Amino acid sequence: MPVIGLGTWQMEADDRESAVVAIRRAIDRGMTHIDTAELYGRGAVEDIVGEAIAGIRGEVFLASKVHPDQATYAGTLRACEKSLRRLRTDRLDLYLLHWRGSQPLEETFRAFDALVQDGKIRAWGVSNFDIADLERALEIAGEGVIACNQVLYNLQERDAEHLLQVFCERHRIAFVGYSPLGSGQFPRPGSFKGDALAGIASGHGVTARAVALAYLVRRPGTFTIPKTANASHVDELALARDLVLDPEEIATLESIFPLAPPKSEIPYV
Ligand SMILES: NC(=O)c1ccc[n+]([C@@H]2O[C@H](COP(=O)([O-])OP(=O)(O)OC[C@H]3O[C@@H](n4cnc5c(N)ncnc54)[C@H](OP(=O)(O)O)[C@@H]3O)[C@@H](O)[C@H]2O)c1
Repeated sequence: MPVIGLGTWQMEADDRESAVVAIRRAIDRGMTHIDTAELYGRGAVEDIVGEAIAGIRGEVFLASKVHPDQATYAGTLRACEKSLRRLRTDRLDLYLLHWRGSQPLEETFRAFDALVQDGKIRAWGVSNFDIADLERALEIAGEGVIACNQVLYNLQERDAEHLLQVFCERHRIAFVGYSPLGSGQFPRPGSFKGDALAGIASGHGVTARAVALAYLVRRPGTFTIPKTANASHVDELALARDLVLDPEEIATLESIFPLAPPKSEIPYV
């Protein structure tokens, strides 16, 4: 599994040809974990991904997500079929519940198990689950079944470091950070934070965004999925894979982007 993958949220708003080229470039550069969802552009993004991976499906680790409103037993099976059709493939490598909605988790997970049995998905996981949600999910599914929890994680949003990341590590649930570049709200050059990042980046011959990604994936079991629809941006981000920050650089980043007090009061021991 590549630690740096590619996100696709809002790609329907990008130039379609550039998006297809960027996805293919990402796969070429080893960012083979492609993350999408039925929600994105109401299926339009899965269609773009389907075009990009046509003929190279075997090189891709393909993840999509079911919308919680659809996540009954039958609804999940139906949603998966539709995603597979748009993605022009017969299987997903990973299928996620996009967030915990009002449908019973038992039903969604039973559908995920049926999809695994049918060879339509290889693994399944969850997204936007807090610790209470994960504890409930583990009660239903047991240990060693939930492949990952995909959650918000970037330098300015490090809350998951308090508890959630460690919880995932202890239960061997991969921790996949989304919006690693702050959904476009990345510190600008000329700002204090932007210049500090650029200083570290120049020492390694990479960009500030690559430094941010390298920080986020510094722990084993943590993955990230930056989004870009621009092939030259892919080239910049791909360099993060081999970038190892030294302890001093990590300490500098953590002083510039301090960990705020925990948002959640849920105790975890
Ligand atoms: N599970 C969930 O609920 C959830 C929620 C949010 C996101 N996600 C997933 O996580 C992925 C990533 O998060 P995100 O889309 O919120 O945002 P992000 O990856 O934090 O940031 C994406 C933004 O950064 C820009 N960018 C990327 N590389 C750049 C570069 N080298 N130079 C300049 N700008 C650059 C992109 O523009 P360009 O395209 O122009 O490069 C885009 O505007 C999503 O696409 C989605 O797959 C999941």
